[in-house]
Amino acid sequence: MVKEFRRVRPHPGRLGAVRTLFTRQYDVTRAVDGISFSVDEGELVGYLGPNGAGKSTTIKMMTGIVLPTGGTVRVRGLDPWKDRPRNAAQMGVVFGQRTQLWWDLPLRDSFRLVGAIYGVSPADYRTSLDRFVDLLDMGEFIDRPVRQLSLGQRMRGDLAAAMLHRPRVVYLDEPTIGLDVMAKDRMRDFVEETAQAGETTIVLTTHDLADVERLCPRIILIDHGRVLYDGDVQGLKTTYATHRELVVQLAPDETTGRVPAVLAEHVLGAEITAQEQGQVRIRFEASRIAVQHLIDSVNRNYPVRDLSIVEPDLEGVVRRIYSEDLAP
Ligand SMILES: Nc1ncnc2c1ncn2[C@@H]1O[C@H](COP(=O)(O)OP(=O)(O)O)[C@@H](O)[C@H]1O
Ligand SMILES: [Mg+2]
Repeated sequence: MVKEFRRVRPHPGRLGAVRTLFTRQYDVTRAVDGISFSVDEGELVGYLGPNGAGKSTTIKMMTGIVLPTGGTVRVRGLDPWKDRPRNAAQMGVVFGQRTQLWWDLPLRDSFRLVGAIYGVSPADYRTSLDRFVDLLDMGEFIDRPVRQLSLGQRMRGDLAAAMLHRPRVVYLDEPTIGLDVMAKDRMRDFVEETAQAGETTIVLTTHDLADVERLCPRIILIDHGRVLYDGDVQGLKTTYATHRELVVQLAPDETTGRVPAVLAEHVLGAEITAQEQGQVRIRFEASRIAVQHLIDSVNRNYPVRDLSIVEPDLEGVVRRIYSEDLAP
């Protein structure tokens, strides 16, 4: 799919003004530039990218808020733009920091309204609400007007409201941005539990890569409106993060109590990045140095008490991809 935003170019001065009478001048932003993917029923996908990458625009096309400039979007067989009401009935959406609740009403009344709008049966409504109040820990504030709630409480309310009619597809666009740790945990557990039930397809946009790593079997990484990566977290690391770190804890010498220093000649060309109190960090390219050889060499030459291999974390990998604009 493609989405261009056009803006009439600002008044370029007197001479230019005459010209624009005949040929309109536009500034065109290609927010989404040929993004293509499909998501299976029941999948939980992390949709990632730096600010301005085109994430929200994609979600707006899938929710039917924005009409694509090119390409096609289908959600469970529906064209989100043309079949807006039917698409709305099958989906739930949360845009972080922007509430869809009624500001002056108690949260509970917002839920009632949402239930009525979507024609949720009283029995289903009660079951869902009880479950959500419990899972999202909303008992304490459900009778307060929305405007009195903290951001974290409100977002939990928003999430519940988006899920009350049991949508088959849920879009969560930065749902935890700016939340305190407690609210974040509640939201994350809720998403995890919903995903595990397997009946809901979830597209999650977030900056919190710890959440992504824990929740999302699949991630789609985009930048400048294009897909950079589509696959699992492990695959992303294998593709983009080729270095590993061997962390060795050395035992002190029995008589002197001192720990030896690891010498460059014993690490097969890897880089010793730190040595302190017997803990040695050795960085190496996994494609160039076989980890077993490295371990053997260290073991042969030093009194090793403990060792572990550290994989690069997702945060670091993703930061590197954005900054270097690596295309696959
Ligand atoms: N309504 C709009 N009008 C003009 N440009 C827009 C509009 N919405 C988004 N954009 C531009 O499209 C690009 C992608 O925006 P967005 O989809 O919001 O990115 P993200 O959600 O990944 O941060 C940005 O350059 C943004 O400035
Ligand atoms: Mg966005």
